[in-house]
Amino acid sequence: MSQVPASTDNWAEVKASCVEVLPEAIVAFIEEGKRLEHSESQLIAILHKVQAHFGYLAKEQMFAVAQLAGIPYAKVTGVATFYHYFRLTPRGKHIINVCLGTACYVKGADKLSQRMMDELGIQFGETTKDQMFSLESTRCLGTCGLAPVIMVDEQVFGPVSPQEASLILEKYLKKGKAKAEVK
Ligand code: FES
Repeated sequence: MSQVPASTDNWAEVKASCVEVLPEAIVAFIEEGKRLEHSESQLIAILHKVQAHFGYLAKEQMFAVAQLAGIPYAKVTGVATFYHYFRLTPRGKHIINVCLGTACYVKGADKLSQRMMDELGIQFGETTKDQMFSLESTRCLGTCGLAPVIMVDEQVFGPVSPQEASLILEKYLKKGKAKAEVK
């Protein structure tokens, strides 16, 4: 991962290094936003775009946003850490969402959550070291009839017992291995 560029008085140099870490379309969006009266209100929209592109907000990207938008870096990181939606670390290849909504909770989502955390060795909001899985929680996936429910990427599983949760993880691990062998 590249580092946050060292500060310098040479604006052209700073701008060039910032443009390098962001896609052209986002740089253009930032430039456009600066012409608006309340350019700072654009910050959240900019961060959404950066996250949509990279999957998370790295330090060097937040630094680039701050420089190009003319907003203090502390303000950019403040907004990024304040909103739960923004992620400051990379996500795994597969996103596992355990539903903690009422229907799922009543049917044992707590045991399911514990099993997932034990199996993966991470807590909610974290990613495994091999970058394979990120574990997240959600409030009702709209499939309460299947409670307790987990969603892996776009696929919903339910009802899922803790034992079945382990098998689902195994399935994804095997898939990843099979793909790696085909390469
Ligand atoms: S509460 Fe889990 S799907 Fe509705």
